Amino acid sequence: YQGGSAALPPMGWNSWNAFFTEIDEEKLLGSAQRIVDSGLAQKGYRYINIDDGWWLKRRPRDGKLLIRSEKFPSSLRSGKGDPSFRPLTDKLHAMGLKAGIYSDLGRNSCSQAYSTGEAQLPEGSIAEREVGLYGHIDKDIRLFFADWGFDLIKVDGCGIRAFGEGSAPVKSGKYRMLAPLIDQTSVTRSDVPAVQDLFRQINQSLARHNPDNDYLLSLCVWGSANVRAWGKDYGNISRTSDDITPHWARMLTNYDSAVRRALYAHPGSWNDPDMLFIGQGDFDAQHLTEARSHFALWAMMNAPLLIGADLRKTSQPLMDIFGNADLIAINQDPAGHQAIVAFDSDSLQILVKTLANGDKAVALFNRGLASVDAVLTADHLKFREDSAIALTDLWTGAQSRFTGEQAMTVAPRQTLVFIAKGDRTLANGLYLSEQPGNINP
Ligand code: DGJ
Repeated sequence: YQGGSAALPPMGWNSWNAFFTEIDEEKLLGSAQRIVDSGLAQKGYRYINIDDGWWLKRRPRDGKLLIRSEKFPSSLRSGKGDPSFRPLTDKLHAMGLKAGIYSDLGRNSCSQAYSTGEAQLPEGSIAEREVGLYGHIDKDIRLFFADWGFDLIKVDGCGIRAFGEGSAPVKSGKYRMLAPLIDQTSVTRSDVPAVQDLFRQINQSLARHNPDNDYLLSLCVWGSANVRAWGKDYGNISRTSDDITPHWARMLTNYDSAVRRALYAHPGSWNDPDMLFIGQGDFDAQHLTEARSHFALWAMMNAPLLIGADLRKTSQPLMDIFGNADLIAINQDPAGHQAIVAFDSDSLQILVKTLANGDKAVALFNRGLASVDAVLTADHLKFREDSAIALTDLWTGAQSRFTGEQAMTVAPRQTLVFIAKGDRTLANGLYLSEQPGNINP
């Protein structure tokens, strides 16, 4: 994707996993302040993104969206005229941060769709009172970017249900699971151009209202509509699956959906397996091994690092995971190669990512509940069999060397991560194979 500024995977925070639709200014600014105070902003966490729930339920007759100003009191500060997010984005910018907003490709957002049961794109008519982008693309994008000063927009896909068959939302325990409103099969082939056309219009508006090209577009159609084939031409990050929940199994599903799409990611457009759920459920402070694995996998996959926790209440060991400078550097490596799976077995996977300087980042990931005896080889790393390979453990800092192969034990659900330095030059002056090329880099 040529538009926007996503040479590296975006980093920041999003309101959804912690607050769902009950987001407000105090919660948002509390997390933003912690990002600054803890040093995470300095490490690259810049985007502070408002997800679903910020608007009043109906679009007024004049078409201009209204903010739930009781949740965002600063929106009334401009005094005259309609409530505005400009005071909030000004404040975030003054903190050295960027600001993100949320809308939907169709007539309504997911939360709206569920509460009104009117998600479908209307046949033949535009429901002027609905809040989604459909029928309002250019003036909404102008409002968000030119008037309100946002830097990012996430475009959700609930309102395009009419393109597929859809299914009812389900609630699962405390955490709301999204049913596959659209899955790979329910969007028919003939629907895809219509979805693409809406994104094309959004691209044009974003270019028009961001002449400096400093914006970011997040596509959220959950891997449906064969988005992997075209999403990289329409947006900066593209969701590969349904919503993550704070459960190990669900994290695996989201990881699997993105890890197999390595060749579709490149600077400018990245796979998005969804926001980090570190801080809750299987990834809370009692489960640091799981939380570290979640983070390491997202780092290796060049996934956006979007924290989904209430940072006002996040304990230091979890903050340290977000702040692991070595893992951040892997994620933000300028070469932009997403890790590939170099070894796969029932429970162990070895991921390898070629870095810009020729070193490899390697992760040994134990998906299961039993310890695994693993063997890392020079061949996994595409280093010469006879070269001395130096490993630095990114969790402990420990250094070691091996030639040929190295045995290791990976604890249940653990992810070991190393930087490996070795020699890939052959006697005849050629190199061992590099990271496979990306599609349409
Ligand atoms: C579905 C998306 O996948 C989520 O990330 C979130 O944005 C919700 N919609 C909001 O309703």
